[in-house]
Parts: sequence; structure tokens; C-alpha cells
Amino acid sequence: MAPSPSPLHIGMTLAPTWLSGDAWRRADSQVERLSDPAFFIDLARRAEDAYLDFVFRPDSLGAPPPGMARRPGGSGSDPTLLMTLIAGHTSRIGLLTTASTTFFPPYILARMLMTLHWLSDGRAGWNIVTSLDGQRNFGLERMPGAAERYDQAAEAVQVIRALWETCPKASAEIDRAAGLYESAILPEPINHEGPHYSVEGPLGAMGHPAPLPLFQAGASETGRDFAAGIADGTFAACPDKRTAIDLRADLRRRAVAQGRPAEAVRVLPGLSLFLAETEAEARDLYRDTHAGTTRAQKLAKLAAVIGVDFSDREGSRRITVADLPLLGPDIRSRTHAELLHRKIAQSEPSLDELLDAPEVMGSAHWQVIGTPGHAMDAIRDWADAGAMDGFILFPGGSVPCLDLALSTIPAALAEEGRFRQDYQRGCFADHLGMREPELY
Ligand SMILES: Cc1cc2nc3c(=O)[nH]c(=O)nc-3n(C[C@H](O)[C@H](O)[C@H](O)COP(=O)(O)O)c2cc1C
Repeated sequence: MAPSPSPLHIGMTLAPTWLSGDAWRRADSQVERLSDPAFFIDLARRAEDAYLDFVFRPDSLGAPPPGMARRPGGSGSDPTLLMTLIAGHTSRIGLLTTASTTFFPPYILARMLMTLHWLSDGRAGWNIVTSLDGQRNFGLERMPGAAERYDQAAEAVQVIRALWETCPKASAEIDRAAGLYESAILPEPINHEGPHYSVEGPLGAMGHPAPLPLFQAGASETGRDFAAGIADGTFAACPDKRTAIDLRADLRRRAVAQGRPAEAVRVLPGLSLFLAETEAEARDLYRDTHAGTTRAQKLAKLAAVIGVDFSDREGSRRITVADLPLLGPDIRSRTHAELLHRKIAQSEPSLDELLDAPEVMGSAHWQVIGTPGHAMDAIRDWADAGAMDGFILFPGGSVPCLDLALSTIPAALAEEGRFRQDYQRGCFADHLGMREPELY
């Protein structure tokens, strides 16, 4: 008998990817509802009805450079406050928020995240980012280099974990007769002194006994080492299966080298879906979504990612690695630049082909354009190849595509034993299998 497949972890973005490109202009886009908090509550509840591990909200603290996608729907709104609202209207689903260690001080991060964890009864998760832009909103002319940002992130996580250890637990003993109210007794300060931070502590915010899952996004060498050392999951940009297999194998190796189990970092690629009942309709959906993207916009996006302007090149000209500048320390995202380098090295596309690649048209995520059946084939294929531990749904093109993704894929995977039929426990860490069942 074939061994049963490992269950997958599934998240879904709350960044309205189904409105990107021209999709918001569709009559049925419901773009007006994005200012209505009930819209997000409803979406999260539907994700919970499908037993998803978590809903997820990425974040940016500044406008992206020209050519990069700008999203409708209050994408600048605070994701942690949004998750706090959703916490009150859901009871099981994980709430993965995003917060930058480059711009938030660790004391504030520790308090904000642990408060969400407490208010949601153990359902908060933190996607640790070091940001790509936003510096001018914080008095900086240039972004600190990636190495410095990761160094700062590593110290921030160390401080935050130490502060969390000082949180009074809701389960602490209260003995009125003895005058013992343990949770009110402030623990010792942490007295952290490091290159980036000086933090006395303790935190004092109400804590929760379940671990708070840490995610990370960014797959440069430094980013991988950072993830391997601390992350429970990584949000990965993997346009093809080989990239995902290599990334997962590499993260497993790096985790072991840092004294953690190989499976400590779950690899969850973004899965961009353009789904419809027929393949032809799905192709139309993809085409219509990107119909309004001009050549100038695509060239600007390409320039923003790899740092070279190809506006004066013939569209039929093949692009090779010799055409690309070396990636310097100031590159916006090494992850995205390296993915495009890899694609160009492998296939030497013409400029026209490159401009139509998903990495330039939309995102650098794994993409399926087709029916739910096609999506299932791709998911089985990646899962069986060891390319992932799950995925994050990024439905594109329309609200019906989002509806189709939610109503078909989790249930079909559950039927095959690849996904849960119901929640076993209520904490996010439990959905991810981070705690032994006997511990709770
Ligand atoms: C898939 C992916 C998603 C990311 N999401 C965010 C985000 O939501 N907010 C943010 O400020 N930075 C985000 N980042 C930026 C990373 O945190 C990091 O700053 C950047 O990728 C540079 O790291 P790298 O050199 O490892 O690529 C993301 C990066 C990747 C690759």
C-alpha cells in the first residue's frame, strides 16, 4: 500500500489579489466593499469554514517604486489591527500578520503580537519581514542594506523572545487566601544590550501558553540562514517546482546545521490561481486581468527587480545573463532578482517573452491558470516531489475565482487525505503541528 501523503498546510491571503491588475474594474469585483470591515470578516470566516491553517496579510510601510504593483483595498492599513478584528469573529483559524523589524522597535512588536495572541486565544502568527521600502516615512533617505536589516531582525527576534518569556500567563495561579496573584508579579527585566537595541523589559503584557508561530519571507543566503535559525514557516516565492524543491532541501539542510530538526521550517510557496470552470475561461480571466498593463509598466517593473532598463532593446532580442548587472548590496529584493536571473539563465527568453512572464506581469509566485482540477494536479505534483509543506492561496482575477478556490481545493485535498477534515485543536501552532498532542 502506498504511504499516505503528508497533510498540507494551507493559508490564504487577505491582500485583495483578486482585484489586482484590471480585475477591480469588473462589474462583480466588489471593490467598494473593501472599505467595509465585514468583507474581511466574511472572508476569514469562509476560510475557517474550509479549515484553513491561517489567513495572512502582507504589509508595506511605504509606496512601492514606479512599475511595482499597487493594490486597491487599503493595502496600507495595519494588518495586526485587522487580524484583531477578525479574531473576535472567528475561533479556530490562525491569524498571520506581517510586521517589519526594520521599522518597528522590538518592545512594540513583542507587545503588539503577544496581545493579538492573547486576544485570539493562541491564534497569532508573525510574518517577520525586513521591508523593501518605506524608508522615507521613517526619516531615512536609503534603505539599510539587506545584510544589516537581517542582522537587526535576528537581534529583534532574540529580544522579542526574551520579552515573551517574561509575560504573565493567563493560566498563572491565583491564591486569594495567600495573597498570591502570580500573574500580577512582574518578572525580572531582560536587560538586553546589543548592537541595535537596548531593552530593559520585562514586558508585562498578558501572555498565552501556546507558541506563537514565526514566519519569514526572503530567500537570499542571509534570508535562508535567518529562516533556518528561527522560523516555523517560510512564505516562499517559487515560480517553478525546481526552485521550490531546491529551496526546501536547502532550508532543511540549514536548519539541521543550526541544531534544529529538518522539518522545523515549513515551506509554503504562494500559489497564484486564475481559476474558472473551463480552461478557456481561466485563460480569458488571466488575459483580461493583465490587459491594461502597458509595455512601459512592464519595463519599469523589470528595471525595479533586476536593476537594468531594457527600454531601448528590440522585443525579439534574447536576454542572457551577460545582459544583467551583478547584484549589488543595494538590490531591492535579492530573492526576486535571483529568481529572474535563474529564469534568464535557464531559458534565455526574448525581451517580449520576459515581459509577459508571470514574474514581471504579476508576482514571482507559482501560478496555475485553469480549472480546480488543474490546480489539484499541480498541488499533488509539487507535494509528491517534496517541493512544499503547503501553500498560501493567492486567488487572482475575480471574486468568482476566489470563491472557486475556497470551495473546491481544501475539500478535494481533504478527500485525498492531504488536508484536515476538521480542526483538531484551536491554536495556530497546533494547526502547524508544532506541539505534541499530549502537551495540550
Ligand atoms: C515572498 C516575499 C514576500 C515578502 N513580503 C513582504 C511584506 O509583506 N512586507 C515587507 O515589508 N517585506 C516583504 N518582503 C521583503 C523581505 O522581508 C526582505 O526584506 C527582502 O526580500 C530582502 O530579503 P532577501 O535579500 O532575502 O530577498 C517579502 C519578500 C519576499 C521574497
